[in-house]
Amino acid sequence: MSEIIKPKVWASFDPPPAVLEYLNENLDFSYNATGQLATRRMIEEQLPGLDGFFLTLRDFVDAELIEAASDLKIIANLAVGYDNIDLAAANRRGIWVTNTPDVLTAASADLAWALLLAVARRIPEGDRMVRSGQYSGWRHDLLLGTELSGKTLGIWGVGRIGQAIGQRATGFNLRVIYSNRSRKESFERECRARWVEFDELFRRSDFLVLAMPLNEETHNRIGKTELELMKPSAILINIARGGLIREDELIEVLRSKRIAGAGLDVYVDTTGIHKKLGDLEHVVLTPHIGSATRETRERMAFLAARNLIDVLRGLEPENAVNRDEIRSLRATIPAPLRALAV
Ligand code: NAP
Ligand code: GLV
Repeated sequence: MSEIIKPKVWASFDPPPAVLEYLNENLDFSYNATGQLATRRMIEEQLPGLDGFFLTLRDFVDAELIEAASDLKIIANLAVGYDNIDLAAANRRGIWVTNTPDVLTAASADLAWALLLAVARRIPEGDRMVRSGQYSGWRHDLLLGTELSGKTLGIWGVGRIGQAIGQRATGFNLRVIYSNRSRKESFERECRARWVEFDELFRRSDFLVLAMPLNEETHNRIGKTELELMKPSAILINIARGGLIREDELIEVLRSKRIAGAGLDVYVDTTGIHKKLGDLEHVVLTPHIGSATRETRERMAFLAARNLIDVLRGLEPENAVNRDEIRSLRATIPAPLRALAV
């Protein structure tokens, strides 16, 4: 009896047990079991011969790696952002690129609020004070923060996560303004949000949250010029990608107290932080944990696994970020050969 050959997939990390079982049932699946992050060398050695690559946002897949992966049909990212993948190179080769939208929206929006509240109400400072034995009872002037109610929340990028951040503002009695390349009328109605020009967003926000994807148009879009438009009392929250902001200029603005504070979950350096950020007191730093709840991470892994399995069965994946490009490439393949292209 001939053995069924399953498509070969490798993951750069160990998926949650339930997802691992699902992958093993459907694929010739293996993964980086070292417990360490995958290195470029490791990825380089694995990619040739793979039908599918399951990766995290910490793995960078450039054109060179993609060109060498002659059998690759899908790159499945365990993230909604996909700035770690050279999309143009994948498109040229007709490789599907998938992400994990929606299932992480609530967790990521919650983290934006956790940071906003932590900075506004000086929670980490308070925690450090209590633990270090410096707290000796209530004082009228102890750790005064800034009130949320009645203020203005600005959001740059109102896709799935930006809108979820805006929805959470209602309970805090905040006015919502936003800037985005397209107007979102249902969001405006639901959250009484107002679209404003990019510069106005900086001028008017008391709390400004960034929820914009990183790409060529948004890279380094925010620097000293924009930050200096902000109110001295304003707080900046970035849960999107570090590369949206010129980090040196942000540090300069925070250091000179030109704005009141910041809450950051993401950094230019994806392997750590700019040392000078750690020296700033009015800044709360988290280690890129926007989607880091057990429930969300399992849902993300299932979604990515389903995308892998669908593509390798010859179906279109649910979450392709390059659907139009792959479809139009396929349209150029002569009809009799199309069935051969997964
Ligand atoms: P999304 O639904 O695709 O929303 C992106 C929004 O940005 C859309 O409203 C889009 O406008 C707008 N936009 C404006 N200019 C754009 C441009 N030049 N290119 C692309 N979009 C542009 O994405 P999401 O699910 O909300 O996620 C947003 C980002 O959050 C992700 O890309 C990721 O980088 C980041 N994130 C971080 C964490 C974390 O752990 N900290 C977790 C999840 C996500 P249109 O509606 O007009 O297209
Ligand atoms: C996290 O940063 C994501 O893009 O999913």
